[in-house]
Amino acid sequence: MNILTLGIESSCDDTSAAVLLNNKLLANVIANQKVHEKYGGVVPELASRAHQQNIIPVVDTAMKEAGIDKKDLNVIAYTRGPGLLGSLLIGSTFAKTMSLGLGLPLIEVDHLQAHILSHFIQKDDIVPDFPTFPFLCLLVSGGHTQIMQVNDYFEMKLIGKTIDDAAGEAFDKAAKILGLPYPGGPLVDKYGAMGDSKRFGFPKPQIKNLDFSFSGLKTSFLYFIRDHLKTDADFITSNLNDLCASMQFAIVGVLMHKIEKAINETGVNKIALAGGVSANSALRKALLDKGNQMGWKVYIPPFEFTTDNAAMIAITGYLKFEKGDYSTIEQSPYSNSKF
Ligand code: KG4
Ligand code: ZN
Repeated sequence: MNILTLGIESSCDDTSAAVLLNNKLLANVIANQKVHEKYGGVVPELASRAHQQNIIPVVDTAMKEAGIDKKDLNVIAYTRGPGLLGSLLIGSTFAKTMSLGLGLPLIEVDHLQAHILSHFIQKDDIVPDFPTFPFLCLLVSGGHTQIMQVNDYFEMKLIGKTIDDAAGEAFDKAAKILGLPYPGGPLVDKYGAMGDSKRFGFPKPQIKNLDFSFSGLKTSFLYFIRDHLKTDADFITSNLNDLCASMQFAIVGVLMHKIEKAINETGVNKIALAGGVSANSALRKALLDKGNQMGWKVYIPPFEFTTDNAAMIAITGYLKFEKGDYSTIEQSPYSNSKF
């Protein structure tokens, strides 16, 4: 039987709706919220207001792009958490109302699981090289940095996590120090591609297990810039590309070190990337090169599934639907990660 799933994502500052036919993508519409740019970070109250404005047009556009009517849908999936509560409330209330109105099954989805399961979306007629279990997943976003051992679709074990900032935050905070707008990660990537990554060196965190730390790196970057600005007011503008490349090199170095350690410790040499930072070109290249050299199987997600999107919510909803794991309207959103 063919299943049409509508996915709704509203956990942070992107309002997104997607339609899947089984595991195949028909539409994935994302409305980014520009309103946060000038504040240097997401302002929760503004995010919820923008979701409220965006949600109806985004869902409507996704269904039009998919060429379907709401009466054709079989199931509705939404992000229950983790995320900003005010943002989650908009998407979850909308999904619950729609499922009640249309008499459709409702499925709650964990945002982090969804980032990982985005690897099982089929984008076009070519069946991709789906990961085989078990595999490791480095989930790197603005809110999370963790390594999961994925033994099955819904059997995931957290084996390492950040003890302070997330990798995306490290990118965004470095960008902010350089005077770049939020979210700065993509800009650090863009300017870094034109710079010399060995020009400036930053200290590596000394964390023994599979956990990560980025706050020391951020602080040393801040002091480094502050000290240079004392003697050269143009230090940032005249070195922007090299500063971005060097900071990016340091962050990617931390991530690569832990990936290698996780593979050695678990004996699982299949590694997938997920989350917003997996769009980073230096990280993608470093992992592909290292994977080639070491004989690892590497899964790099298509760009549209790296940052927050509803296609990943829809695939997770579809996989849950297949195993009869439905939700009730009583389930309320949660802000903290359950992993
Ligand atoms: O997964 P995501 O969209 O949202 C969260 O769940 O956090 O990730 C957003 C994060 C931001 O910190 C953003 O700066 C970062 O991903 N990001 C990047 C790149 N594209 C997005 N960081 C580095 N390089 C990129 N190309
Ligand atoms: Zn995310």
